[in-house]
Amino acid sequence: MSLVATAGGDALIVARARERATEASRVARETSRATDAVRVADAGVPVLTLQGISLSFGGVTALDGIDLAVAKGEIRAIIGPNGAGKSSLLNVVSGLYRPDRGVVQLGSERFRHVPTARLAAVGVARTFQNLALFKGLPVLDNVVMGLVHRRRAGFVRQILSTPQARREEAEARAAAEEAITFLHLDAVKHQLAGGLPYGILKRVELARALVARPQLLLLDEPLAGVTLAEKRELAAHLRNARDAYGTTIVLIEHDIGVVMGLSDRIAVLDYGRKIADGTPDEVRSCQAVIDAYLGVAHEGETELVI
Ligand SMILES: Nc1ncnc2c1ncn2[C@@H]1O[C@H](COP(=O)(O)OP(=O)(O)OP(=O)(O)O)[C@@H](O)[C@H]1O
Ligand SMILES: [Mg+2]
Repeated sequence: MSLVATAGGDALIVARARERATEASRVARETSRATDAVRVADAGVPVLTLQGISLSFGGVTALDGIDLAVAKGEIRAIIGPNGAGKSSLLNVVSGLYRPDRGVVQLGSERFRHVPTARLAAVGVARTFQNLALFKGLPVLDNVVMGLVHRRRAGFVRQILSTPQARREEAEARAAAEEAITFLHLDAVKHQLAGGLPYGILKRVELARALVARPQLLLLDEPLAGVTLAEKRELAAHLRNARDAYGTTIVLIEHDIGVVMGLSDRIAVLDYGRKIADGTPDEVRSCQAVIDAYLGVAHEGETELVI
């Protein structure tokens, strides 16, 4: 795998990474929990705090005592070589994985194992490393899916198309249309996801994650596999989403150039451990990071060229 930095329109190879690897009350309660979380966050508590997160798969240590604090409104990147534990970390935060040790705090709520069913209620949305869209559905319907957890009308009422179900459907579609416009997807909103280019689908996935206006957005490689121009466009959309909605963003990304330009702070993982955490400038000059990416021990003479 190569690590690509972008600057001034050019892609510069900077380093070669090592080869390794709802009922109304429920909605009200959910809203109130999310609002509480924001209120606490506003008071200075990080939106996301990880304390001593460890996770193993058989003999493989995916995460080893990870501490992390993500402030409200920041764009925080998680970087590291392949197999470093980045996706595992997001999977712990979103409740897909239960850590062996440690605590995840989302806003004011502390979890040993984050309940995936309540993820949206605590204001968290995520995307996956591999696209997880319904190829046989139009873009608009895919984005509406991002609000499924909010629907109060049960399956039967939806089938019978009761007034409540129709109202909710209309509200969900209006919110989805707004997200689609925000991400400049109007031209393709009635097209099936399956026939669209990958770069557009990455934006559709982002629209689906943003439609519920999450407090915290977890993005696993949102810029991977797209052209440089699309990457820049997506990065601008992420920044706009943060600015327009106040959404805190945690993203995994391999393109160091994009990461440096987009992130407020960067946490670096290597073999499941956090080896650096700081501003782009701090991380850029960190010897442990340089060593992790080059796989070579240096005596302070190497600098990650970004
Ligand atoms: N469900 C799982 N079962 C077994 N091993 C796993 C599982 N998920 C992750 N691992 C292992 O944990 C380690 C960390 O994997 P993870 O996917 O978190 O890395 P990553 O940093 O996201 O890598 P990449 O950059 O390749 O996406 C790897 O050794 C991986 O094989
Ligand atoms: Mg991964």
